[in-house]
Amino acid sequence: MDTANIQEIRDGARMGVISGVTTNPSLASAEGIGSSESYKAAVREISDIVDGPISVEVISLDAPGMVAEGRDIAGWIPNPWVKIPSTVAGFEAISILSKEGIKVNQTLCFSVNQALLGAQAGSTAVSPFIGRLDDIGLEGIDLIRDIVSVYAKHNIETKVLAASIRHTLHCTMAAQAGAHIATVPYKTLLQMAQHPLTDSGVARFKSDWEKSGNS
Ligand code: G3P
Repeated sequence: MDTANIQEIRDGARMGVISGVTTNPSLASAEGIGSSESYKAAVREISDIVDGPISVEVISLDAPGMVAEGRDIAGWIPNPWVKIPSTVAGFEAISILSKEGIKVNQTLCFSVNQALLGAQAGSTAVSPFIGRLDDIGLEGIDLIRDIVSVYAKHNIETKVLAASIRHTLHCTMAAQAGAHIATVPYKTLLQMAQHPLTDSGVARFKSDWEKSGNS
């Protein structure tokens, strides 16, 4: 799930389909989280709800700052993935943190080259932002397909994590393009479960059953 909203995470987790949570400063801020301490408290709560990696983003723009934040975040919860941006400073930080055994979710990826550099630096997962590419008139899903294909060609183990998902078609197409993981807003997750024929079918089964005098 792609949210820092605790209630959404509780509700989503009950469906039994959540394998992790991604957060970022915008999502945290939207929940009124305004300090490192409150971010840490929210992330710990999320980690208690979801049994899987929880991605927590650094705020620093320089490598030493990202590394210091990443080491700190790594001690917050049992299964952290530190989100580091796809920048020159970010690759430096990824290479340092990954050598220390800290898992990294390389975020804000918009090209195959950034994905290659991140994999080389030691990213556990790379997050191409498909919705934001669509926003500027490009085809975000193509980037997922291209990274998956190049990684496969070179036996690269970094996972492809489809991010900036805006609607259900993104979910289907990301899976078809070979993304290993998708991070999905709660509203989209609910929409994934819905189909009008399922709703009408459930209603018809119930009314047919009741017509026979059953209750
Ligand atoms: O995981 C990254 C994602 O939250 C970004 O989504 O909709 O802000 O582009 P969006």
